[in-house]
Amino acid sequence: MYDSVFDLLPSEANPSPLVRINSLHPLRDQLDRGESTFELFAKLEWMNPFGSVKDRAASYLLRDLEQRGQLTRDERDRDGKITKHGRGIVEPTSGNTGISLAAMASAKGYHMRAIVPEKVPEEKKVMLRLAGAEVDVLTDAMCPSPGMGEGSIGLARTYAKAQSDRYVMPNQYENPLNVQAHIETTGPEIWRQTGGRITHFFTSLGTCGTVTGVATFLKAKNPAIKIIALQPSQGHDVPGIRNKDELHVTKLFNPSLIDEVLEVPFEKAYTSAVGLCQREGLFAGPSSGLIFEGARMILERDKPAQGLGVMIFCDNVFKYISSMVKHLPALAGDHETRP
Ligand SMILES: Cc1ncc(COP(=O)(O)O)c(C=O)c1O
Repeated sequence: MYDSVFDLLPSEANPSPLVRINSLHPLRDQLDRGESTFELFAKLEWMNPFGSVKDRAASYLLRDLEQRGQLTRDERDRDGKITKHGRGIVEPTSGNTGISLAAMASAKGYHMRAIVPEKVPEEKKVMLRLAGAEVDVLTDAMCPSPGMGEGSIGLARTYAKAQSDRYVMPNQYENPLNVQAHIETTGPEIWRQTGGRITHFFTSLGTCGTVTGVATFLKAKNPAIKIIALQPSQGHDVPGIRNKDELHVTKLFNPSLIDEVLEVPFEKAYTSAVGLCQREGLFAGPSSGLIFEGARMILERDKPAQGLGVMIFCDNVFKYISSMVKHLPALAGDHETRP
């Protein structure tokens, strides 16, 4: 029994689960022939209370704003109508950070305004509103580099400056607490869950809070652990993650902590996600699909005889139904013969 949903946030004592990859293990044949004992696990970040890896950064950002007295609650009448605006949050987001922040801010009585690029899937925009956020969708015309985030960051900054009595911007792209959250939660969870046996860590690059935080923690424990970042090919359409050409938006990318950055054809994010759903029972979203595909490419190339890999599965597929159907139209079922 929990006192509130906040008690479900992940920590070393309450880690998100690690689940073994079985039928789709890239070294299945080698395992069966006794030539390898390499174990591969997915860390299911969608088991976090607001549905993604971003619950970690968002809870750190919100707690910091509260502790520094930066937020005040909206005042409401009996019907829930706002009678006096407090000081809430404005944040540029590709969806997941905004959903986590909005859910937690709303539950605590703070206002949240999310600035999202147009290409964010419709489901995420609806989820943001459902979680209580006011949503500004930037059209390509308003955004200097469509989909890359600069436009959203700029607009959020403008709100935070021009209406500083109404908004404060935690800025996940620059805030060191985004990294700290992973140094203090994700890293220690993985270390403890694997009994220190991890040899390979596979993740993606978005704000880079995950890769920088987890790598900082794991490299301090054992510098031999390989940190591998998977990036989608250029011109990609995988929400939440970035190709290296888009990384200038974030200040949290630290290449010195990363052993290898591998580019994965972005279409594989979608086909891989389907494979994980159908062959492992893991309802992985496209960025998890891309990470799995990258891990597969590396393990098939290097064929390690032993070791243990952990992949971050950032969120599940439910928020990406429109993107899945766009890339794999057969999923819409229109081709099926009707009785
Ligand atoms: C679906 C998804 N995958 C991966 C990431 C990358 O995580 P990070 O921002 O910590 O690099 C994000 C970040 O928003 C995301 O939304």
